[in-house]
Amino acid sequence: GCSSGGATVETESSAGAILRSTAKLPEPFTVPLPVPPVRRPVRTANGVDYHEITQRAADVEILPGLRTRVWGYDGIFPGPTIESRRGRTTVVRHHNALDVPVVVHLHGGRTPPEHDGYPTDTIAPGAVRDYEYPLDQRAATLWYHDHRMDFTGPQVYKGLAGLHLVRDDEEDALPLPRAEREVPLVLTDRAFAEDGSFVYPSVDPSLRGHPGVTADYMSGVLGDCVLVNGAPWPVLEVGAVRYRFRILNASNARRYRLALDPPPPEGPAFVQIGSDQGLLAAPVEHERVPIAQAERFDVLVDFSRYTMGQRVTLVNQLGEDGTANVMRFVVARRASEDSAVPARLSDIRPLSTSDAVATREFVFRRGGAEQHGRTLWTVNGEPCSPDTISATPALGTVELWKLRAQNVAHPIHIHLGRFQVREPSRYAGGWKDTVDLDSGDQAEVLVQFDGYRGKYVLHCHNLEHEDMMMMANFQVT
Ligand code: C2O
Ligand code: CU
Repeated sequence: GCSSGGATVETESSAGAILRSTAKLPEPFTVPLPVPPVRRPVRTANGVDYHEITQRAADVEILPGLRTRVWGYDGIFPGPTIESRRGRTTVVRHHNALDVPVVVHLHGGRTPPEHDGYPTDTIAPGAVRDYEYPLDQRAATLWYHDHRMDFTGPQVYKGLAGLHLVRDDEEDALPLPRAEREVPLVLTDRAFAEDGSFVYPSVDPSLRGHPGVTADYMSGVLGDCVLVNGAPWPVLEVGAVRYRFRILNASNARRYRLALDPPPPEGPAFVQIGSDQGLLAAPVEHERVPIAQAERFDVLVDFSRYTMGQRVTLVNQLGEDGTANVMRFVVARRASEDSAVPARLSDIRPLSTSDAVATREFVFRRGGAEQHGRTLWTVNGEPCSPDTISATPALGTVELWKLRAQNVAHPIHIHLGRFQVREPSRYAGGWKDTVDLDSGDQAEVLVQFDGYRGKYVLHCHNLEHEDMMMMANFQVT
């Protein structure tokens, strides 16, 4: 299991418990950026691609000279990247070689309920399970991760997360940067004990609220070291051309506001081309990119505007100490540009409230239920229970969901139903599956329930809030 790592000092912030590493951390920007390997199918038959993944413990070198025990898909963190074509069924066989139950959820997938990774639908230690993904959906940056009831936080923290990209003809036809100029950036924060092991507070629920367990882990676990694709504050040498970065925030509880330091002398720092559920209708320019847990931002950065040899740091304006840095780019060579920024990216029909056949409200707050003397995180005052259905949208309809955060911010994810955000307007445009609510804020999202009937969840993607019951069920009828 997980331990608190003894020597580690913890402090609390409103965002959660910040864990301090006692291991020797490397100088920032000395470790090269790794890119998770793209996994080829083990076989292809009748238009279906078959993959196999073994979930197992492994000792890997994250901090130079130290070993870290991870729980990885095929023993690596992040796991291998799976790539699928739109509409081409992908079957992933997961072997559980860990000594705990696991659940796999394809985040952002339009997946039948029996393959969606319902939190109690576990793979026992030693067992095998095939997840079948029709992937009848637009090209997008999806990701897969553990979703075990009450234990998602610790199991993802130990490494159970990876990318699953969907590609399609619409996106292929665009002149976007490709090959080594299309780079995924998976952001996580971690804390390390002196021997290099990950530090995560005890997850034995019976310990919660007992004397000695003082820090408020329930608010979220934050590390003091930022990893990109599993490497601490890495560095990437780039050519003086445009790159495409698919940014995923796979952190348990940390939000980032990304910026470039220095910003380019002219033009925007980032040109956003895609969101959680694929391409936007048209590119959007940003000086900074706020990214909450589980969100994806697909952005272009043009390094031709910098001088040769220049160092450009990807910074986190919300960070403290070590987490104010994310990674560094070094403009290392000239290169010929073969990409362009298309004025139009995709056709997206904007939904309006008149498309909605029902309106529902979900309030996310701490309160309404207790366990071991601690107040749980709840949805509409109820802690998660597999037997309670909070909404019954009809297949093929659109509903207006009002999501409200009391007390603190919550990033809310809805399974199956992709949505357009009406408010806040900073999200206007594109299809999403996760929306960040500031404390006291309300978001209005128009959710499309397409594909399958059955029971799915919506929940907070602060994984400690999720494990402390901030999850509800809906049944598509
Ligand atoms: Cu990324 Cu229900 O989760
Ligand atoms: Cu939350």
